[in-house]
Amino acid sequence: MNLPIRPRRLRLQPQLRTMLQGVSLRRADIIVPIFVREGSGQRNEVPSMPGIFQMSVDVALDWLQRRADEGFGAYLVFGVIDSKKKDAQASAALDPQNVVCQLLQSADRAKLPMAGITDLCFCEYTSHGHCGPLSADGSTVANDQTVELLVRQAVNHARAGAAVIAPSGMMDGTIGQLRSGLDAAGFPDVALLAYSVKYASAFYGPFRDAADSAPAFGDRRSYQMDPARGVTEALLEAQLDIEQGADMVMVKPAAAYLDIISALRPKVNVPLVAYQVSGEYAMIEAAARNGWLDRDRTVVESLVAIKRAGADLIISYYAELLAKLIER
Ligand code: PBG
Repeated sequence: MNLPIRPRRLRLQPQLRTMLQGVSLRRADIIVPIFVREGSGQRNEVPSMPGIFQMSVDVALDWLQRRADEGFGAYLVFGVIDSKKKDAQASAALDPQNVVCQLLQSADRAKLPMAGITDLCFCEYTSHGHCGPLSADGSTVANDQTVELLVRQAVNHARAGAAVIAPSGMMDGTIGQLRSGLDAAGFPDVALLAYSVKYASAFYGPFRDAADSAPAFGDRRSYQMDPARGVTEALLEAQLDIEQGADMVMVKPAAAYLDIISALRPKVNVPLVAYQVSGEYAMIEAAARNGWLDRDRTVVESLVAIKRAGADLIISYYAELLAKLIER
């Protein structure tokens, strides 16, 4: 056969294959999530996320020091709150000494060389598990009241040393209010990572185990996005957040929404973050633990796909493993 172009020619040498890679995945691309709980010396494995632990502040700080040594540059902290401290108004979220603030403060004192990002939401703190106080008839989350409280939570996080604040509750107008609230409180340099495009997804199931944040009734479809809605709503959400001052925007989950990431990429002029969520982790782990998938290859391929779709940074539970698999 006389073929002018044979794409296989460039696949024959491993060196050429490496040189021709157009997509890179480095440890510096990864944001490391961490679940912090009360107590000391605590390290409890999450049943539906084997290999992932809720840690007390002391253990969490040690664990993060190792990630920093490996070259990871940012962590995303979630608080796991004692159920006795939860109420309908999420009061524990506004406690300036809660575990999230404690971790930020100890990271500061220890000069941990990582940017601290906080997930700003109330579902881990409310007795009903919804992402803010409920409306008068109890049917949904009260948007504007929640946003006011989010500003107070954000100022606490900023005081405790957060570099970036990431509101994940999908309340309208959050970013604008946070920007002016943080500026007024003297924190103009704290950045905002907007969970702009967040779907009401089944893939968050294991996270709700990890953070003890499942809604006690109903679901989150009156505030999170409908997976079947289409790409225009995603563009609108990202655009609104950028207009209001988002420094970075996020798509979540990642694997099932690569089309959304790639549609957003040319339309947004801020860094684009994607969240490889708990269910994506759990699926890979379940198959790997059964011997059905090669874990190392599956993890790298899943993350390369997210980068290729257009994400600049990825939140992934696989940092510890990635330190063995990819370069800084
Ligand atoms: C809300 C929040 C959730 C996740 C991150 N922030 C859960 C939810 O919306 O129910 C999910 C992350 C994951 O599944 O890994 N605070």
